[in-house]
Amino acid sequence: MFRVGFVGWRGMVGSVLMQRMKEENAFKGFEPLFFSTSQVGKSGPEVGSEVYKLQDAFDVSILSELDIIVSCQGSGYTEKVYPELRKNSWQGYWIDSSSKLRMEDDSIIILDPVNRDVINKSLASGIRSYIGGNCTVSLMLMALSGLFKNNCIEWISSMTYQAASGAGAKNMIELVKQMSRLSDSVKDLLDKPSVAALELDSAITEELRKGVLPVDEFKVPLAASLIPWIDSPKSNGQTREEWKGMAETNKILQTAEEIPVDGICVRIGAMRCHSQGFTIKLKKDIPIDEIEGMLGEAHDWVKVVPNTYEDTISKLTPAAVSGNLNIPVGRIRKLNLGPEYLAAFSVGDQLLWGAAEPIWRMLRIVLEYLG
Ligand code: HSE
Repeated sequence: MFRVGFVGWRGMVGSVLMQRMKEENAFKGFEPLFFSTSQVGKSGPEVGSEVYKLQDAFDVSILSELDIIVSCQGSGYTEKVYPELRKNSWQGYWIDSSSKLRMEDDSIIILDPVNRDVINKSLASGIRSYIGGNCTVSLMLMALSGLFKNNCIEWISSMTYQAASGAGAKNMIELVKQMSRLSDSVKDLLDKPSVAALELDSAITEELRKGVLPVDEFKVPLAASLIPWIDSPKSNGQTREEWKGMAETNKILQTAEEIPVDGICVRIGAMRCHSQGFTIKLKKDIPIDEIEGMLGEAHDWVKVVPNTYEDTISKLTPAAVSGNLNIPVGRIRKLNLGPEYLAAFSVGDQLLWGAAEPIWRMLRIVLEYLG
């Protein structure tokens, strides 16, 4: 029986991974081992009726005996442990949600509803490192897969509205604390039978600027505001998050000719859904009904939302999509710029298709491949 090690299963992405694997009854056909960087010997997760003891996530000799390692522990762990394993001639499969190995030549970025052909070829050619993509890129590709598959896209500009969860669990908590503090600060005003909007605004703005909101993670208030910067700067003026759009899209799809992708990535006060507004330059003028057909037929999870007010507000918001595997794509229309310019808007849960979902599915794909 194949032996599969799980590292970082307790963190936010790891917890979603465990939850999804339990929901899908995916803990079968292999022997699971659970690792910890800090709680070796303690009780691990309960899977089925069994409670697993935690092993040392830094013990390369135990890790070397595994057929597959699934890591949601983060880039620092990968940086430390992965080279040691390979140096020890470990031939197993490394499946990782962190970005550390993403752009390596001998790594594949996994998003099987979109690039299963690339994954199959890579397995057959002996590649053994399979890495989850950046959440924003994965969610864009899930939404627009039909247009990529049909080779319709000349370039894309994606303006993002990214949730707090993409920055981490502590950031989600900080966002809610900021909201709570803001709402406390105007409680007396809201309790009055009538309150002027401008009076409320003055009070909120004063609270935002007073330096009293918790900002250890985001550095500035996100609640009642936004932050048009995600990750570190690149020398060309992009942020690293913006740079990933083009680099990862083309690597995931292994495009013969590079498709330009760029835009501005913005953090907003949603909890776990990233949204994106797309401007797409099509290679030619394609009627909207054909475009909707291609988008909707791409895979089981993409859902085309009719471009109406009622459908948009009920189906195309983080509030509607959170915790859901479906990827709605709507606001599909031609822009005034010309018949080859398409607008679309999409929302996706960044902890599901943006993080955990491709990882456990890749484990299943490797197990199927190994037979
Ligand atoms: N980098 C993303 C974000 C999340 O900050 O929202 C992970 O891909």
